Amino acid sequence: MDLTYRPRRLRRSPSLRSLVREHALTPCDFIYPLFVHEGIEIQPIGAMPGAMRWPIDDLVGEVERAWKLGIRCVVLFPKVSEELKSEEGTECFNENGLIPKAISRLKKELPEMTVMTDVALDPYSCDGHDGIVNSEGIVLNDETIENLCKQALVQAQAGADLVGPSDMMDGRVGAIREALDEDGFEHVGIISYTAKYSSAYYGPFREALDSAPRSNTSKPIPKDKSTYQMDPANAREAITEAQLDEQEGADILMVKPGLAYLDIIYRLRQESELPIAAYNVSGEYAMVKAAAERGWIDEKSVVLETLLSFKRSGADLILSYHACDAAQWLKE
Ligand code: PBG
Repeated sequence: MDLTYRPRRLRRSPSLRSLVREHALTPCDFIYPLFVHEGIEIQPIGAMPGAMRWPIDDLVGEVERAWKLGIRCVVLFPKVSEELKSEEGTECFNENGLIPKAISRLKKELPEMTVMTDVALDPYSCDGHDGIVNSEGIVLNDETIENLCKQALVQAQAGADLVGPSDMMDGRVGAIREALDEDGFEHVGIISYTAKYSSAYYGPFREALDSAPRSNTSKPIPKDKSTYQMDPANAREAITEAQLDEQEGADILMVKPGLAYLDIIYRLRQESELPIAAYNVSGEYAMVKAAAERGWIDEKSVVLETLLSFKRSGADLILSYHACDAAQWLKE
């Protein structure tokens, strides 16, 4: 055949392919999510094989392991005991609570590791919502933000480097920025869950924290989070959210979940010059683990291909429960 263009020329050998490779993964792209609890034993999480609920003492060792693998950021989620949960989730701003304790311990033992937090009420809410639910079953926006600001401040005081509002209340990024600045935490960054969809992929995470919305005899509780998290059918709306977060002072924009929303990552990359993060969520992790356990897919190849797809679509950072495994595989 008389072909001028033969794209296969550049695929002939590993060295040629490496010369023209457009994207690469490195361990410092990853943010490693970790669950913490008050108990004294390391508890496996049923739907997330390989992920654990860590006591603070053991958390330190796991974070050291991540550091040695080249990971430079962890995000902490608390499993809060039932008796500390309330309608307003006030435990979220207890200075001696689990998360502030975990942050200060980590910053003492490993000061260089970047520590990110989650700002939302759900782990602390007896109703299982990210905001305060009123007697009519409405998730209150402005009242919730008051508690989120207090939560972010307590986290900053404990030494958090990045606070991550995951609640999807309107105006929370600006309010948290102001609260941090007023108290001398202008150096603490905000990684905003900008386009967070109302997704079924969060199921295993809610099992890990026992934080799913739950019914209550005294008032109606919305069964899902669709009055504040985004409709999976919407893409343009993600741009509006990104513009608002940017105006309100977000430092990093996040898209969540990741894999089913690569188009949203791509769109935000076109719209904004800020770093973009992708959250490879618990349900995505569980699916890979389940298929790999059955021998139906090759875990290492599937995970690395998936993580690379986030980079290719425009993400700079990737939150993933596979972070340590992937960092290890990248070294091999
Ligand atoms: C809570 C929060 C959720 C996740 C991160 N922060 C769950 C939710 O919104 O219900 C999900 C993470 C995952 O599934 O891995 N605000």
